[in-house]
Amino acid sequence: MRSRVAGTGSCLPARVVTNDELARSVDTSDAWIAARTGIRQRHVAADDETTSDLALAASREALAAAGLASSDVDLIVVATTTPDMIFPSTACILQAKLGARGGPAFDVQAVCAGFVYALAIADGMVRSGAVRNALVVGAEIYSRILDWRDRGTCVLFGDGAGAVVLLPAQEGGVLATKLYADGHHKDILCVPGSVRSGAVSGSPFVHMDGGHVFKFAVKVLADAAEATLAEATLPASAVDWLVPHQANLRIMDATARRLHLPPERMVVTVDRHANTSAASIPLALDCAVRDGRVRAGHHVMMVGVGGGFTWGAALVRWG
Ligand code: ACO
Repeated sequence: MRSRVAGTGSCLPARVVTNDELARSVDTSDAWIAARTGIRQRHVAADDETTSDLALAASREALAAAGLASSDVDLIVVATTTPDMIFPSTACILQAKLGARGGPAFDVQAVCAGFVYALAIADGMVRSGAVRNALVVGAEIYSRILDWRDRGTCVLFGDGAGAVVLLPAQEGGVLATKLYADGHHKDILCVPGSVRSGAVSGSPFVHMDGGHVFKFAVKVLADAAEATLAEATLPASAVDWLVPHQANLRIMDATARRLHLPPERMVVTVDRHANTSAASIPLALDCAVRDGRVRAGHHVMMVGVGGGFTWGAALVRWG
């Protein structure tokens, strides 16, 4: 038994913030941001929008594409670092909004590698027969954990959600997944604050050593993709579409180069979405599926890396 991706969906908040708009409130410029990261704009959630609202809209699209009724959803896994609340999980809140009940529902906290983690876990549960189907979502509202006065971080991120539905399959589908973590790097990329006795103790904002993240990300993304290809006994040249975590165009280009893949085989949305953390891979995937680039029989390689550090890859044969 395998699992296959039967449908994809996405949701972006209506409000678009361009680099020029940001440059009116922090000391930066469109030229600096675009040259260093490839980012031109990001979507930002409204004050009354929640992560589960974005997840719900993306899930409805994915369920419609898969032909699965909301009430028939079994497993729900939401990858997020920006949940609606400390508990219950965003997955449980999403389950109630969808009108589903009874199946397992939980969040995965692996930051920007969260979607790959969630996909690997859900694939294992569908494959083993533990669940009938799975809704796997990456959803984030990073705008709420950014210090909008810190030009070193606020220009990099955006809000959004992407979702996929996994159904059982006899062949193809998810061919191999690999997950990794190394907690020794925990201080390089973090939101160190925690809630204590009714107040936030420590900073509630994203902190990052950009140079360290850059070097680490380029190495482990390519390594994870290569290990996943080895498990599936396929060469890198078999990859039709590389769908990397959309953190930074320079990291993505370097990853494609290390895999000897031409840039035109990489899906890029970082220019329009910025870094949406756990949502970035399913958002990019949904774009490439809906515009007809990803077709039946194609091999799609998803690779992600995030705070922790966490990283991993998933190789899927489409159709
Ligand atoms: N606008 C203008 N100038 C800026 C900005 C900005 N938004 N941010 C920093 N600068 C300045 C710095 O203050 C510094 O000025 P100085 O020389 O006077 O001190 C100068 O630009 C160079 O700063 P660096 O940090 O060295 O710039 P760098 O070329 O390394 O680019 C960046 C910074 C884009 C963050 C880069 O390190 C990077 O891409 N790192 C990867 C981080 C990343 O992608 N994080 C996403 C989250 S992690 C993840 O998803 C895995």
